[in-house]
Parts: sequence; structure tokens; C-alpha cells
Amino acid sequence: MAPSTDKLALLGGKPIGLPTAPKFPVFTRTAINRVVKVLEGGQMVGLDNRHPAISAAEDAISSYHDSRHALAVSSGHAALHMALMGVDVGPGDEVITTPYTWGASVSCILHQSAIPVFADVDRLTGLMDPASIEACITQRTRAILVVHLYGQPANMTAICKIAKKHGLAVIEDGSQAHGARWKNKSVGNWGDVAGFSCMGGKILATGEGGYLVTGDPDIRWRACLSTQHMGRSPEPGFPPEYLPTVDSLLYTYRISTVMAVLMAEQFKKLDKELAVRRANVGHLRSCLDESQFIELPKYGKQALPSWHMLTANFRADEAGITRDTFVRALRAEGLSWGPYVPAPIPDWPRLQWRGYKGPKTMWMENLKRAKTDYSKTQIPNCRYKCDRSMEMSTNNFIRPARKDMERLASIVHKVERNVDALREMEAK
Ligand SMILES: Cc1ncc(COP(=O)(O)O)c(C=O)c1O
Repeated sequence: MAPSTDKLALLGGKPIGLPTAPKFPVFTRTAINRVVKVLEGGQMVGLDNRHPAISAAEDAISSYHDSRHALAVSSGHAALHMALMGVDVGPGDEVITTPYTWGASVSCILHQSAIPVFADVDRLTGLMDPASIEACITQRTRAILVVHLYGQPANMTAICKIAKKHGLAVIEDGSQAHGARWKNKSVGNWGDVAGFSCMGGKILATGEGGYLVTGDPDIRWRACLSTQHMGRSPEPGFPPEYLPTVDSLLYTYRISTVMAVLMAEQFKKLDKELAVRRANVGHLRSCLDESQFIELPKYGKQALPSWHMLTANFRADEAGITRDTFVRALRAEGLSWGPYVPAPIPDWPRLQWRGYKGPKTMWMENLKRAKTDYSKTQIPNCRYKCDRSMEMSTNNFIRPARKDMERLASIVHKVERNVDALREMEAK
């Protein structure tokens, strides 16, 4: 029988609680001063790359990504959409991707009038399982879009090998994984092109913004042509054959000079913050080693995650309670750790053209023409993951916080000790 001080907050006990989270993102004094200078300078828009704030951001991106060609844009979605355009994915082309991600990894494909085809994922990490890719390849497949979800690097060796064998482009979505490495090479540097988000909740957070990196200057120019004002065309190296296509039929995906300043500055402290994030998550994971009902993924030597979130699976069968009850009990104690992807993306209503009654989307007609039937998608591991998964943001882990990690783990242990009481609660 648990002592009365151990009574769960969900059942009327005293919550353990966590210290107030530090603010995120953090901008240095230099960054703030530089923003003020841009505002005082009066030039809010960088219509061409000669604006020093934009070129400085692109230099910072490039130097973080092994001198790859960089394009700073307005969001992660913009970067991914332009990445697809950069590798010439177009209407009717199929792009193999993951059913377990943030929707923008899929909507970028839909916005290019291409057709998402869903491979399966690993049951614990939720990352695309390379073994499930080849069964998805058809004559219309043009690319694989892989997501480094929660800061975990996907198996790029296997994915690039499959892509090479079948002549497919590889697009990486590194939006949640700035600084993660696979085989000691940064994510974003493996495929043909990569898109990253820098919105306010990301590892490298500016507020809004994103960027694309590629080893091929031509991919960058193609992305640039549909993204930016024609003022960019006189940049050195602009291919003359593209001049007739320079016009203002654009997606306006340009970055603001303010966000560009912040982006360049955030890169300066990224590795330092990552080291602290890794130390905190490492300590938390070791504190959770003896957890009865939380299963954490294990990573081989090849993977160095950057920990945007900590993912785990809840062992509902062993616990004898639902994940929902467990999550509610954690929340009542002050710990927010719950499911991030509500259901496999192919199940989402806006991808079902048969019988769809909601507001119109630009992709419905394409999906209908391609006769997609996502109800037939074979993704048992994704369903397994969606049913059990719990994710915790690690954005508050950029300051040393060993004690907080221990407190956090003590909440999990308290709830686990009291699982009988939760079973009783559920039975009522
Ligand atoms: C995996 C993933 N891809 C793409 C995006 C899109 O980024 P943004 O919100 O900057 O458009 C996000 C952001 O939330 C994301 O988490």
C-alpha cells in the first residue's frame, strides 16, 4: 500500500510539480541589438541576396552544413515545398514518405500536386523503416522524403542506398533535428536537398523561418526561382538559361530581414545548447531506466540525436490502464508527456477524396485522379506507435538541469507506483 503522501494528484493528492519552465527561445543580447539595428536601418524586406542580413544567414546555414548551398525562406513548409520543386517533383509524381510526422512533411508533397505514398516506420522511434520502402516503389516514384523526427536521425545509409538503386531523389526533413548526426554527418547533408523549420518551437528557433540546403547549385536556383523576388536573379552564378523564367509568378516564401538576423545569431550557440540538451536527456533517460511501463528507443553508435522531443511507448498491456489515464496522471503531477501524432496521416479526413465534405483543397482532385485509396495502406508499425506513443518537448533542457531531470523522473515513478489506484479509477 503506497504511503498517503504518495497519493496521486489525479486522485486528490499533492502534485510533485516542476519548476517554471525557462523561456524558449532565448536570443542573445547581440542578436537583439542586431535586430534593433535592422529596424532602425529601415530595410524590412530583403528582395535580393545583396541584403547583408539575408546573405549572412545563408552563410551561417552553409557553414553549419558542410558548405552546402543554402536558401533562407519563410518557413519549414516553404523550404520543403521548394526542395521538391528543386528536384523537379511535379504533378502526378509519387513521393514515398512517412505516415508518422508533422503534416507539413506531407502537405509539401500535396502542394506540388504530387502523390504521397506511405512507407512504414519503426515501432519505437517512429522513424521511416527503410525495409518498408521498396514495396512502395512504382514507375511513378520520383523521390523519398525522409523525416528526422523528434531530433532522431533516420537511417540515411540504407535510405540513400535504396534511392540510388532506383534512381530516386532524397529529400530530408530536418525541421525537428538541427544538429542531429547519422554516422557523424549532419542530417540535411545526406540527401539531394533538405528543408528545415526555424519556427519558435524548433531547436534552432527564430520565431518563423526556415531554410533549404543542397549540394547542387541548380536545385537551389530552381527553388529560388519560385520562392523569391526576381531581384535575386543578378546573384553571381545565376544560370542564364533560367532568365526567361524569371518573373513574379511566385510563392512568396522570402524570409524577413529580422528573422534572417536571428537565424544567423542562433547558429552561433546551437552546438553549445545541443550539448546541454544531450546531457539533460541522457540523465533523464538513465533515471527512467527502471521505469516499468515506459519503453524508450535505444540508438546505435551511428545515431546522434539532437532531442527536439523525447519519444517513448507506453506499455498499456503490462500497466493494465490506458495511455490516456497514464498521461492524465502525469499531467496532474505537472508533467506534460503525451501523444504528438494523433493518428497515421493516411487516415486523416482531408486525404480521403471519397465522400469528403470539408472545405476544398488543391490536392483532392489529384488524389482522385491518381485513384489513391489510403485505407489500404499497410502500416501496422505506425498504428502500433500511434496507439502507444508519448512525446515530451525538450526545449526547456537547454540549461543544465540534472535535478529537474530527477524530479521529472520521480513523477513517472510515482504514477507507476500507483498504477493499482489508476486501475481502480478506470474500473469505476
Ligand atoms: C517535421 C516537420 N516538418 C515540417 C514542419 C513545418 O515547419 P513550419 O511550421 O516552419 O512550416 C514542421 C514544423 O512544425 C515539422 O515539425
